[in-house]
Amino acid sequence: MYRALYRQYRPETFHEVLGQDHIVRILKNQIASGSTSHAYLFCGTRGTGKTTTARLLAKGLNCLSDGERPCGECANCKAIKEGSFLDVIEIDAASNNGVDDVRELRESVKYPPSTGRMKVYIIDEVHMLSTEAFNALLKTLEEPPEYVTFILATTEAHKLPATVMSRCMRLDFKRVPEAVLISGMADICGRIGIDVSEDALRIIAANADGSVRDGLSILDQCISGRDRRVEAEDVLEFLGASGDGDFIELTDMVRKKRTEEAILFLNGILSDGKDVRQFMRDWINHYRNLLMVKFMRNPETVVNMSAENIERIRRQASVLDLEDINRGILELSSMADEARWSTQPRILLELAIVRLCMAAGEIRELTEVEFTEPVIPAPAGQNAPVQERVPAAPTAAEPAAPAKAAADTPAAAPARPKTAPESAGAFDCEDIWNKVFEDGEGEKGSIYIIRNSGQLTSIDENTFNVTANNEFTRDLVEKNRKLIEHLVGKHTGGHKTMKVSLAGNGKKEVPAEEIAAAASDILGIKVDVK
Ligand SMILES: Nc1ncnc2c1ncn2[C@@H]1O[C@H](COP(=O)(O)OP(=O)(O)OP(=O)(O)O)[C@@H](O)[C@H]1O
Ligand SMILES: [Mg+2]
Ligand SMILES: [Zn+2]
Repeated sequence: MYRALYRQYRPETFHEVLGQDHIVRILKNQIASGSTSHAYLFCGTRGTGKTTTARLLAKGLNCLSDGERPCGECANCKAIKEGSFLDVIEIDAASNNGVDDVRELRESVKYPPSTGRMKVYIIDEVHMLSTEAFNALLKTLEEPPEYVTFILATTEAHKLPATVMSRCMRLDFKRVPEAVLISGMADICGRIGIDVSEDALRIIAANADGSVRDGLSILDQCISGRDRRVEAEDVLEFLGASGDGDFIELTDMVRKKRTEEAILFLNGILSDGKDVRQFMRDWINHYRNLLMVKFMRNPETVVNMSAENIERIRRQASVLDLEDINRGILELSSMADEARWSTQPRILLELAIVRLCMAAGEIRELTEVEFTEPVIPAPAGQNAPVQERVPAAPTAAEPAAPAKAAADTPAAAPARPKTAPESAGAFDCEDIWNKVFEDGEGEKGSIYIIRNSGQLTSIDENTFNVTANNEFTRDLVEKNRKLIEHLVGKHTGGHKTMKVSLAGNGKKEVPAEEIAAAASDILGIKVDVK
């Protein structure tokens, strides 16, 4: 029977564990010196070795070898591997989460090990226990018999009661660095005699996102059915074939608020046998790609895709607002999170689609329609003067917003603000800049970036100048033109046209890290830049 790679290659000794050196070191020492704790909490990202390490610790505690333990060879190590060792008890808290299950466990704790040295209870996904079950467990955790070790494992330590945490030695499993993943996978490929190019492994590792299980699972699917060397193109083809086109289409339906069409489309994909949870993760990844492509000059380095796919994503990113992407990531992540334990993940996904469709474009409408000022037609040849440095002394005849703004503006403009005009030149630029953002606060996340890395440098009768510290900010300023013009107008008594310039020589490159930090800031998610 065929077994998935990640089942086939579960480390049998500490030596084979990828990454997690900090944890391996501690456990090896404790086993060697007989100073293990009576309760452990293993937490961290999925697929990084929690269950694997729990079994290694169970083996180490019962291993018969005189050398390094676990040896992986002795009768006890083998029995534990097979799952036939009576004194290592694995409990899946996701399906045994009631107080009765814990009572049963407490009963069995009373009996000393039958064949081994230590009775080891591995409680996986421990955050799934009910409150009563936790309380029942607490008593046992407080004073377990000498011959018992508890290993609790979870991806969500924050859901555990403090009382439980405080009784365990906590070990945090980290995402495995790509380089470590690559060499680990290369090792496995060598053992099973399959030739996979370094580039192919690199792409797989990048897509595994720190999870060894995910890495092996992608590798598995890329090598299946191939008798020749696996190249980068094969991996890209596999990753692409798992539905990039579908995500582009679905995201587009959401953007256009076509709820029914989107639900039917999803129905079609799922009836092809695609896993709902995997689909959610892949869709989130699509939104991440949109984010990268929108904000990075060379997204190729972080988006592992063929140039063609990147181009398609770029086209979609250009019609989506940061808010749309932000919302997609947040909504889907929270659904994916809940779906892990739900028996009805599909309903959650459908609900997410409905919510995304309802929310699509709302903020855009607010800023683009509500804050529209009367549009003065731009003279020919003067369209979108965004890239140019503006002259120091603009004239009253300057065009208003660029022509694109006019084209985007379907609704009639509201009346101008009625504030009494102050005399030009008497304005305190800094003061007005601050007021603008106090007003704009809460409207859009990007506002914070503009406030911090842009300045209002001068205000004239019909125009005002904004200097952006970098190109990224300049683009944001430009995107929020109507809002900013409206707000500056409000505080200076009458509409003024904004001119945007770049600080310095105007050619300043924004470091990718700065963009990532800014994006992380407003999105509340981590954006990695290599
Ligand atoms: N650190 C690692 N080193 C080597 N292989 C690993 C590692 N982590 C995971 N694997 C591989 O992935 C498979 C699953 O790992 P494991 O069950 O230990 O993950 P986990 O952290 O318990 O995940 P989950 O949170 O989903 O329960 C293993 O069989 C092994 O092949
Ligand atoms: Mg596990
Ligand atoms: Zn052994």
